Amino acid sequence: MSQRLVATHLVDMMAPVLVLWLVMSLSGTWAVDKGNFKTCDQSAFCKRQRALKPGESPYRALLETMELTGTRLTLQLINDNNKVRLLLELYRLQGNITRVKINELKPLKPRYEVPDVLIREPPTEPLSLLSQDENGVVLSLGSESQRVIVSARPFRLDIMEGREVLMSLNSRGLLAFEHLRMRKDTFSYKVTSTVASVWDNIKRVFSSQVDPEGEKKEEADPASQAEKAKEEEEEEKVEAGMWEETFKSHSDSKPNGPSAISLDFSLPGVEHVYGIPEHADTLRLKTTENGDPYRLYNLDVFQYELYNPMALYGAVPVMLAHNAQRTTGIFWLNAAETWVDISSNTAGKTVFGKMLDYVQGSSETPQTDVRWISESGIIDVFIMLGPTPKDVFSQYASLTGTQSFPPEAAVGYHQCRWNYNDQEDVTSVDAGFDEHDIPYDYIWLDIEHTDGKRYFTWDPHKFATPKEMLQGLMDKKRKMVAIVDPHIKVDSNYKIHNEIRNRAFYIKNKDGGDYEGWCWPGSAGYPDFTRADMRDWWASMFAYDQYEGSMENLYAWNDMNEPSVFNGPEVTMHKDAVHGAWEHRDMHNLYGFYVQMATAQGLIQRSGGVERPFVLTRAFFAGSQRYGAVWTGDNAAEWEHLKISIPMCLSLGLVGISFCGADVGGFFKSPSTELLVRWYQTGAYQPFFRAHAHLDTPRREPWLFGPENTALIREAVRQRYTLLPYWYQQFYHAHRTGQPIMRPLWVEYPQDPATFALDDEFLIGRDLLVHPVTEEGARGVTAYLPGKDEVWFDVHTFQKHNGAQNLYIPVTIRSIPVFQRGGSIIPRKSRVRRSSSCMMQDPYTLYVALNPQRTATGELYIDDGHTFNYEKKEFIHRKLFFANNMLSSVNLAPDSQFSTQSWFERIIILGASKPGKVTLKTADGQESQLEFDFDASMSVLTLRKPGMNAGLDWNVMLQLP
Ligand code: NOJ
Repeated sequence: MSQRLVATHLVDMMAPVLVLWLVMSLSGTWAVDKGNFKTCDQSAFCKRQRALKPGESPYRALLETMELTGTRLTLQLINDNNKVRLLLELYRLQGNITRVKINELKPLKPRYEVPDVLIREPPTEPLSLLSQDENGVVLSLGSESQRVIVSARPFRLDIMEGREVLMSLNSRGLLAFEHLRMRKDTFSYKVTSTVASVWDNIKRVFSSQVDPEGEKKEEADPASQAEKAKEEEEEEKVEAGMWEETFKSHSDSKPNGPSAISLDFSLPGVEHVYGIPEHADTLRLKTTENGDPYRLYNLDVFQYELYNPMALYGAVPVMLAHNAQRTTGIFWLNAAETWVDISSNTAGKTVFGKMLDYVQGSSETPQTDVRWISESGIIDVFIMLGPTPKDVFSQYASLTGTQSFPPEAAVGYHQCRWNYNDQEDVTSVDAGFDEHDIPYDYIWLDIEHTDGKRYFTWDPHKFATPKEMLQGLMDKKRKMVAIVDPHIKVDSNYKIHNEIRNRAFYIKNKDGGDYEGWCWPGSAGYPDFTRADMRDWWASMFAYDQYEGSMENLYAWNDMNEPSVFNGPEVTMHKDAVHGAWEHRDMHNLYGFYVQMATAQGLIQRSGGVERPFVLTRAFFAGSQRYGAVWTGDNAAEWEHLKISIPMCLSLGLVGISFCGADVGGFFKSPSTELLVRWYQTGAYQPFFRAHAHLDTPRREPWLFGPENTALIREAVRQRYTLLPYWYQQFYHAHRTGQPIMRPLWVEYPQDPATFALDDEFLIGRDLLVHPVTEEGARGVTAYLPGKDEVWFDVHTFQKHNGAQNLYIPVTIRSIPVFQRGGSIIPRKSRVRRSSSCMMQDPYTLYVALNPQRTATGELYIDDGHTFNYEKKEFIHRKLFFANNMLSSVNLAPDSQFSTQSWFERIIILGASKPGKVTLKTADGQESQLEFDFDASMSVLTLRKPGMNAGLDWNVMLQLP
């Protein structure tokens, strides 16, 4: 094709997308084009599975096939309609987890089992048989009086503790397993004898799938022969969408035919379920009976709609169920398109209705039923039995790992827009922060920084000397992130493309050629990140001598990795594209996970394994927490989008992905000044804090809205920086334990139903409660302060409030309602500088908030902030506690090697009484008197310049007058 023709073609292909972007982002109309994305009815397998009705399970457990060998139970299931057998495997895993796997006993070819997501083969524990008869078997699940009952007809599993059923599988009979088959419409009675005999042979080979008893009976009995003929006829019925499917102009060739799986779970006593991100919806998941199921299918959804079960960029197939007694979790390890239906017997009942039921004694036990449907793969489900929320987090972390520990700078503020135009622009934005005294750590470059959307390159005119630019930032202890997307421009003059093509690393289309789709660069190939050799190669491209112009303060951003294919079905890759032995269909939701994995590997490798990476991703899957941060994609500058950032990040935190944020200010459209200020105030208290904006929006650096608003934004960002020691400690904790950083209140107050469905407030760690102002023109907010035995201190006024109350807080535009829990100690740094790295050796202020028992505990974690040396115990980790009028620091890591110059410049004790004198005793036995102030009206005691080193033992004694 001539260049002109190529260009015309490109314009043709891109035109609808580009025009839409332009019109929508400028016109201010906000609406997802629903027609671009499938409903369950338009997704053949979802429709088929959803048509199955409860109570008609065709599955029977063949108890005589049961084998129990130490830690593994296997058992065959038979589908009485078609006689196809499945193999069930059941394991008890360490840490109160039960794993259930179901696959075809003898599939025509292997079915996809998700690799690389589990951090290891989970260690198992012994299972023992408690009883058995012709109806079923009872197994003991270890020591915790937990049992699993396997019922044979119809097949179901009940997991019990004592007399209580914790969870039942297939109790509604919705287990479905579409076995792989030959395409019979071309093979049936019309076909030639040769083909028919091939089919007979295949049947013979797999004859063990057929119930031998059934067969014998059928030979003898004409009635059953007629039945068999009917069954076969049934099987031969080829429904539309089984062997091919079209959506809009796209056809899916489905070479393997129908392959969906489905299973239902019943949760007695449960009215609240959470998780299965990513959806722009409330924290508490809704029932789906009157609409579509929640969909998990990584998609680039333009102008996504809120309060909606539609799929978004990422998918984590993990659901948590919670009531006041117990938290459990279901991890459905499947990377194909998945839909999740939720129903409940109390849905739609008002509180009054429930009370009436109760008074009349007619209330049935509440129950939530969920049903998972995936397009292909196997059933591999981990049932995490809690019982506490924290147990579920640890259980899930034991399977998929914990949040990566980011460089401390990444916990600071990030300044992004699409795009910073050139080096001068970067320099002037950077200088603007200094001029306006606002700290920041990273400035970001979007796609326009590249040479024609060729990632790993720089625009030769606008970014002619990237190293100079990076050095300029480095001199100020600041950093940069540049975007590296996974669509690779098809251009024989582009090294990256040539290498990928020559190494045959591209994903293939169904006909065996390199798959090509349209994205930012025009025609693009998509590297097959499922291949370890491809990932190694990709990682090697981040080496300083490969990625020209890069330096150690340049980090990475993986966008469009669902993957986004502008001209593909639902703006993504064709499901019949090919990754080696597998179809894209099988692992679609894993693609983004692998892109971020390979990129993080690259950043680690380029430093010889010394430096921690920072990589932001848009698409994700279970386990993505191990590789960096995620953000909630292309939101809008609207109040509702600000609000939804809270439940969206909370939902991610519940399933292990703590490092979450939303574009501050909103990506599309232009925020009002009030909205922008409120968004900074909210973002300052969310784990990933980055402003970002669409190419077509007016500039919105923090100083462009008049001095008053600059001051408000400065204050919000500075609050973030003063709290960095606490944030960093939360990241360390999340990395070590898998506990979420930004948490719903019910995680800490699991027995308090008032905390179960809050979307407008959250905790950071255990000790800070944040209720940001997210309403336009707000004069006040009502925050729920949990805990009947707790007190909470307003961090700005130090006013004390009792727990277990709804507190009305009058607000002004300056207010960010934040409360510190009585009983906690929070370290801060009050000298805010240019960037977090500039604050490394600065002194700390301790905020000691006393509980009614006049005690408090907290921690202090310090390391070098950027290397993996913490793994070699190079850190300080101290426990701080206050009891009996004494505040002490003790070493939690006695064998660690690290020292700091940081010291304590102030200790503020909230809820204190006035001492007569205050004595500091340091590790060397020295004693000295400390100066102090006491504010009697607020009961605040301030100890001035205690001066001890942050890494050493000491105690401070308050002597009563
Ligand atoms: C889509 C991303 O979501 C957005 O953040 C980015 O600015 C554009 N792609 C351009 O790269």
